[in-house]
Order: sequence, then C-alpha cells, then structure tokens
Amino acid sequence: MSITVAKSAGFCFGVNRAINIVNSLLDKNVKVSTLGPIIHNMEVVNELESRGCKAVDNIDEVEKDATLVIRSHGVPKYVIDKLDENGVKYEDATCPFVKKIHNIVANPDNKDGIVLIAGNSVHPEVEGIIGHCSTECHTFKNSEEIDEIYNIVLKKNNKRVFVVAQTTFDTKEWKKCVKKIKKLCTNAKIFDTICNATSVRQTEADLLAAQSDFMVVIGDRHSSNTGKLFDICKRQCDNTVLIETADELNANQVSVAEKIGVTAGASTPARIIKEVLDTMSEIKSGVTNGEESFEALLE
Ligand code: F3S
Repeated sequence: MSITVAKSAGFCFGVNRAINIVNSLLDKNVKVSTLGPIIHNMEVVNELESRGCKAVDNIDEVEKDATLVIRSHGVPKYVIDKLDENGVKYEDATCPFVKKIHNIVANPDNKDGIVLIAGNSVHPEVEGIIGHCSTECHTFKNSEEIDEIYNIVLKKNNKRVFVVAQTTFDTKEWKKCVKKIKKLCTNAKIFDTICNATSVRQTEADLLAAQSDFMVVIGDRHSSNTGKLFDICKRQCDNTVLIETADELNANQVSVAEKIGVTAGASTPARIIKEVLDTMSEIKSGVTNGEESFEALLE
C-alpha cells in the first residue's frame, strides 16, 4: 500500500499572498472586508471571519473605517473606479498573473480587434478580465464553442483576434483550442496565460491519478481549480473522490486501496491536507485507537 501526495498540492503563490495581506492587516488591528470570500475555502474564510474579517457582496457594504482587500481573482475595472470615486481604502491582492491578463486585454492596440477568453464567463476571474477589455470580447469553454464564435462573429469580419485564458483553464483543452483557433483565424495573437502553478498541478494530478487505484482531491466544492483537478483525475482513475475535509473520507475506500494518490486545489490549506493524510494513515494502520475503532471507522 502506498499514499503519494502531489508536490504541487495546496496553496499557490497568489492565494498565499492574498491571505498574507489579510492577515497582516488584521495583525495591525485594521478592520478588513473582502469582496466575496477571499478564497474558495470555507474553513479559511471562517477562520479569518473569527479574526474580524468580513466578506461583503457589494462595495457599498464596506464600512467607512474598513479596508477592502481585493482577492487574488481580481475585479473588473469599474469596481476599482468606483472604489476610487467613493474614497474607499483598499489593498489590491489581485494575483500578478491575473493582472498580466488585465494588461493584455486592456491594451488600447486591441481596440479594433476582438478578444477571446478561454474560461467560464461567470467565474469571478473571468468577469474581472471581461471588465478590463478595451474592445469586444467573447468567452469559450472548449474548442466546440470556438466554432460557434467563429460562425457567428469572426467569419463575418477580418478583425484581429487576441486570445487569453483564465489562469486555471484546463491545459489539455487549451491545446485543442489553440490548434482550432490557429486553423480558423490565421491572424490570431495567442497569449498562453494559464498559470504555471495550475499547469504543474494539473499535469502532476493527471500522472498521479493514472498510477493510482484511489485518487483523493481535496478542496472546496465551489473552487473552480479544484473542480478541474477532479475532472482530470476522474478521466484517469474512475475511483476519484473530491472531499473538503478529512471527515468526508470513506474508510472502506481507503482501506481497500493499494495505491492512493492525493492532490489539492490552490485554496486548500496545508493543515487540511495533513489532516486527510493522518486520517488515511490511521485507517490503514488501525493504530490510533486500536482494532476496535478501526472496525468502527469501517462501518
Ligand atoms: Fe495566481 Fe496562479 Fe494562484 S494565477 S492565484 S498563482 S493559480
């Protein structure tokens, strides 16, 4: 029996940075609000809330003496403008890799072109990217949707096409999309903006799941990158589960598995990964409370 944890599992640079910004403000007794949950992990959000950090849905809800932290996903430009107009104090924790996409799509040179964004149009990161575009833009989730955009929009005109991707877009799907775009739009300028942390995490998850007979993905069910990791692993290993905490582990699945693989989304704290690993070891060895409690766990 073996348990292998992906090296890339857990917090990425951008999430870590955002959490550190919030924590350092709280350490200075600054009243902190975040626009939406700071990350897609309720454990972390609840922990910060217990320290006084309040997630708001709207910038009008930010109290006068509070500092708003913009999360790593970023926000549309009109939100920044409104914060400036209303004199709201804020700290921008937008991940620099997301900022880079904002700069690409905001470039005034794109003005007469069309921006295509690979990603989920209702994901906050993509909403933010759309909100920085200096020109017409369209989103697509897969190569089939590119055909639709081509037939409805691109075929009719000869506009220059600029393509970017949500930082957490599936790397395999991206390759297919790039191939399709190059075939349909010979003038396309394609920017591979998938975050390296994401592609490393996805590649590692793919390889690990292929070698495992039970694959565990740890992360919040609302986290898009965790959901994508689950899909990638499931393609390789049908016996893949997504859990948010160690409590959701199925002892029976753990005890019968020979090769267990573990990975975690970018917003999963190391503490939760450790709890899952400890629980799996306990189930496997049955050592914590003796054989009797091992049996109980299996019930
Ligand atoms: Fe940034 Fe990449 Fe994380 S874009 S927020 S470092 S997944």
